[in-house]
Amino acid sequence: MGLELIDTHTHLDFPEFDSDREQVIVRAATAGVGAIVNVGADLASSQAAVALAEAHPQIYAAVGVHPHDAKTLTDEVLKELGDLASHSKVVAVGEIGLDFYRHLSPRDKQGQAFDQQLALASDVGKPVIIHDREAHKEVMAILRRWAEGCQQPVGVLHCFSGDLTMAREAIELGFYISIAGPVTFDNARRLRELVRQLPLEKLLIETDCPYLTPHPYRGKRNEPAYVQFVAQEIARVKELSLEEVACITSDNAQALFALDF
Ligand code: NI
Repeated sequence: MGLELIDTHTHLDFPEFDSDREQVIVRAATAGVGAIVNVGADLASSQAAVALAEAHPQIYAAVGVHPHDAKTLTDEVLKELGDLASHSKVVAVGEIGLDFYRHLSPRDKQGQAFDQQLALASDVGKPVIIHDREAHKEVMAILRRWAEGCQQPVGVLHCFSGDLTMAREAIELGFYISIAGPVTFDNARRLRELVRQLPLEKLLIETDCPYLTPHPYRGKRNEPAYVQFVAQEIARVKELSLEEVACITSDNAQALFALDF
């Protein structure tokens, strides 16, 4: 059996892929990506994620409203998300969280949308995909309270940007830590040290495509086939084989998202 990688965070429904989406999906399979979790950012993209998952057996969906779009989470949108969240190919609620870097929605609205969608995840019994940018303290305070009553595993901190103490606490709460393309960047010494210290059994890999393209394609559009460069860098840092990193991180993703393949 060849290499099997799982890209746990993509945005293949975004317009960046309109011209060649099906070819990108084929290239991912050719590159050994056995499964993809395509993550919603608002209601329309959550609907598109579910449609993609219905059309492709290896694609799964997450549904949620990103903190940037928190102001769009009305009661009607929340109800529609709730209906989508019960779909058999929806494996998580996300991406949800707080973004105090760009502040595209006001803080109080972000907090409210985060709370409402954590409650939705509890209702449907699915894990969460967390976006946290420059809001580590606030995100952890909310997750600490929420994760208490939850069955493990509870979710993933996507494109992790916190420190080792935060990562360890999140793992203690039942979260996985997801590593994206920046781990391959020259200036990522701190992130590589974090990867070195954390157990592989708690790591996931992702592209967050079309963003965060890893070296050597930095500057170009990202796509799921490039998740291999993230896996390679983790293997190098942890002095393991690429096969071992692929195998364990794929097992982790299957355990978290209960992927049925
Ligand atoms: Ni994302």
